[in-house]
Amino acid sequence: MRTPLIAGNWKMYKTSSEAIVLAKAIVKTLSTPDGTQVVICPPFTALAAVGQVVVGSRISLGAQDLHWAKEGAYTGEVSAEMLRDIGCRYVIIGHSERRQYFGETDEGVNKKCRAALASDLTPIVCVGETLAEREAGRAYGIVETQLKGALSGLLPEQVQRLALAYEPVWAIGTGRTATPSQADEMHAHIRKTVAMLVDAEIARSVRILYGGSVKSDNAKELLERSEIDGALVGGASLQADSFAAIAAAAKR
Ligand code: 13P
Repeated sequence: MRTPLIAGNWKMYKTSSEAIVLAKAIVKTLSTPDGTQVVICPPFTALAAVGQVVVGSRISLGAQDLHWAKEGAYTGEVSAEMLRDIGCRYVIIGHSERRQYFGETDEGVNKKCRAALASDLTPIVCVGETLAEREAGRAYGIVETQLKGALSGLLPEQVQRLALAYEPVWAIGTGRTATPSQADEMHAHIRKTVAMLVDAEIARSVRILYGGSVKSDNAKELLERSEIDGALVGGASLQADSFAAIAAAAKR
């Protein structure tokens, strides 16, 4: 049985004071535990403040990226230990926006996963194809390559501790969601790939989230699919009500 996980990726939205207001509203709206794990991932500048708001609540704190080195001369970067220190439990790694705009590679994703795991952060590792790749019939192969790169050399027990997120690039911020069957089929393929690369048992237990235009009105039909264990939510996580409705739809 995989515990559903709903993560809000706030991207580059919300100043620290705005983030506090939103986090307070989310904590209030999602005050009753219902078996679903909920994470919010504000920008770096708001992490410490939001960490104070969610402490003692059912909401966990996550970051949107990290650097793989422990420390060093890496101007502008943030390490796993720094994130742990301010209360982060999760970190998004390999988001398509980082791949697309900031040159994130599968090798970098792998290094970041190792660093996160070594600091006891749960990586949420993103994979997903572009529209051109899907139309060319290459979606499954692309996702497989990304998984191979991300999980390369990780021990089965490390893979068990992370979560995967399938985010088709063409569905992010476009209002165009993958259909529940498209998502379910890709998730099954991801699970099969993990079984092949790592271990069948681990593949059964690893959580695979769907991301890409998840909203309160389509969350249920996606989340009731057997292969979809949660959601990585962008736009709809910026409002407490819609985010809470998505979290409620994940209840098993
Ligand atoms: P949207 O929900 O805004 O499409 O964003 C999805 C996403 O990229 C989450 O990481």
